[in-house]
Amino acid sequence: MEIKKVGVLGCGLMGSGIAQVAAMAGFDVTALEVEQKYLDKGFAGIEKSLAKFVERGPEKGGITAQQKDEARAHLKGTTNKQDLADCDIIIEAIIENVPQKKEMYTSLDGIVKKECIFATNTSSICVTELLGATKRPERFIGLHFFNPVPLMKLVEVVRTIATDGEVYETAYEFAKKLGKVPVRTSDKTGFIVNRLLVPYLLDAIRAYEEGVGSIEDIDNAMKLGCGYPMGPFTLLDFVGLDTTYYITHVMHDEFKERRFASPPLLKRMVMAGWYGRKSGKGFYDYADPAKPVAGRF
Ligand code: CAA
Repeated sequence: MEIKKVGVLGCGLMGSGIAQVAAMAGFDVTALEVEQKYLDKGFAGIEKSLAKFVERGPEKGGITAQQKDEARAHLKGTTNKQDLADCDIIIEAIIENVPQKKEMYTSLDGIVKKECIFATNTSSICVTELLGATKRPERFIGLHFFNPVPLMKLVEVVRTIATDGEVYETAYEFAKKLGKVPVRTSDKTGFIVNRLLVPYLLDAIRAYEEGVGSIEDIDNAMKLGCGYPMGPFTLLDFVGLDTTYYITHVMHDEFKERRFASPPLLKRMVMAGWYGRKSGKGFYDYADPAKPVAGRF
């Protein structure tokens, strides 16, 4: 089967990024949100990102002004689920909440054509739990993108025990057509990246709690000692402490291992509403976003 029309559920950070890369790759994209104001916010982010690609220019991996206009012409926003009826693939990137995701899939299942592939961008929820909300379990997969979607090359393509082989290969090829590098993985909580990344990030917090080093020093150590683009605390603030805290619950619930359990400090920061960069404060204070100041806890 050929994918031509893409639906994206949710136009937040991940959804808008997915909609953008699909439009840049020449697919017709319809993004669904519950209210126009969320579409406006998501599309403003896309506009900013496309402008950065134009600034960079095609010779350095960016795009031309004409390519930007073409990408924009492929993008539509809607608050009406009926507008997704003829999509070939729908990628869901709404809030990480099982009942809300299930409700969304169930309502779309009756609207969207039966050949359409349903994909979830969940980072930790069991894909198999979600497919039960539809009558198309064999056409249900995980497509896990990384933040910032326009820059990060990886997509985890997640197969469940119910996934049809041809559907899986179609989704894998689709990820390539988006200009991404797909990796094959199965529906084990956290897939490949979070299975390895989450214990590392949580260990960085434990190391800080145990006085191994300051936040800046641990960040610098991992950046300069291992060549990581961001130290663990910068990355935690970037991913969102609320998101990470949520993932720890799902992973700890699945594996019952301490390495996936939230350290006390992470819990307290989330309780205090310090979610990282998006809330203005996390392990760093972003009062001046250009000069984050590391906290002392
Ligand atoms: N769209 C387009 N261009 C963008 C952009 C965007 N959203 N954001 C930045 N750019 C451009 C910048 O303008 C800049 O362009 P020039 O080179 O022309 O100046 C270029 O990209 C590089 O940006 P920066 O200099 O600001 O930053 P950088 O070189 O440090 O790269 C980064 C930024 C790619 C985010 C890098 O820091 C990085 O790889 N960090 C790690 C990110 C990561 O690990 N993400 C995964 C998180 S885990 C997750 O998402 C999954 C989960 O389940 C939780």
